[in-house]
Amino acid sequence: MPGNNQTVISEFLLLGLPIPPEHQHLFYALLLAMYLTTILGNLLIIVLIQLDSHLHTPMYLFLSNLSFSDLCFSSVTVPKFLQNMQSQVPSIPYAGCLTQLYFFFLFGDMESFLLVVMAYDRYVAICFPLHYTSIMNPKLCVWLVVLSWVLTTFHAMLHTLLMARLSFCEDNVIPHFFCDISALLELACSNTITNEVLMFIMGGLNIVIPFILITLSYARIVSSILKVPSTQGIHKVFSTCGSHLSVVSLFYGTVIGLYLCPSANNSTMKETVMALMYTVVTPMLNPFIYSLRNRDMKEALRRVLLNKRISL
Ligand SMILES: *[C@@H]1O[C@H](CO)[C@@H](O)[C@H](O)[C@H]1NC(C)=O
Repeated sequence: MPGNNQTVISEFLLLGLPIPPEHQHLFYALLLAMYLTTILGNLLIIVLIQLDSHLHTPMYLFLSNLSFSDLCFSSVTVPKFLQNMQSQVPSIPYAGCLTQLYFFFLFGDMESFLLVVMAYDRYVAICFPLHYTSIMNPKLCVWLVVLSWVLTTFHAMLHTLLMARLSFCEDNVIPHFFCDISALLELACSNTITNEVLMFIMGGLNIVIPFILITLSYARIVSSILKVPSTQGIHKVFSTCGSHLSVVSLFYGTVIGLYLCPSANNSTMKETVMALMYTVVTPMLNPFIYSLRNRDMKEALRRVLLNKRISL
């Protein structure tokens, strides 16, 4: 805008969370502990799946990918937040903010695409058990993972480039603990209508389509079980789909809670709690949901540890 006395903003201030000063230390310790648990838990899953050849099946390779994107997703926001809680001026450079936005979308979407891929894998395993290995061949698995990366890269790129077009004037205070897209749009002093429309459409597509696909897979699974009802069949579904369904519920529960439940008052509080849910709690719980309930994972852990002891 020519003639406008604009200052170019080179950094943003991340206000963080409205925590009373007397609870700052406790919150910091809690957040650090949860972040370390996320890193260690997910790393353990990745290492275990790589080391144990019994776990080189599509389901576990996808799970390993999910752990990888959980680990990265948490690392996009939490370390910077921890650092800002310690510093006098909780700032983030403009480029850092856009980088955070890009990787937030990249790994966040990856999680939702991987949940679809995993649902498809369970669908094939239960509805076509005899053809499972020929349908879910290594080529298809790699292709599904690569396709997810391509889609999520495109989506993250789109939002980041659209954000880079906007200009920011005096106000550079973000009332959040990371560079959240809607907080940034509120600060922008150029027209944000394109960004908002695309955010709405792409956000809807990236949440609704995966949700429909997952629901369809499970509808087919349930109907195939009901055709030949047997306790064995039901047991099989619960043992192989239970963990996946828990992770799906956790993921979509948060998303639905955030976007669909109306909240008249206290909406910033709700947004904050939800943001903590999906950046810290969900990535931390995923490995536990999979490994605690899962006999294969426990046996793999035992095998890997025993091998270590024998070789020592
Ligand atoms: C992700 O999945 C692909 C395809 O199954 C697999 O080849 C690759 O090793 C996995 N990557 C990780 C980090 O687990």
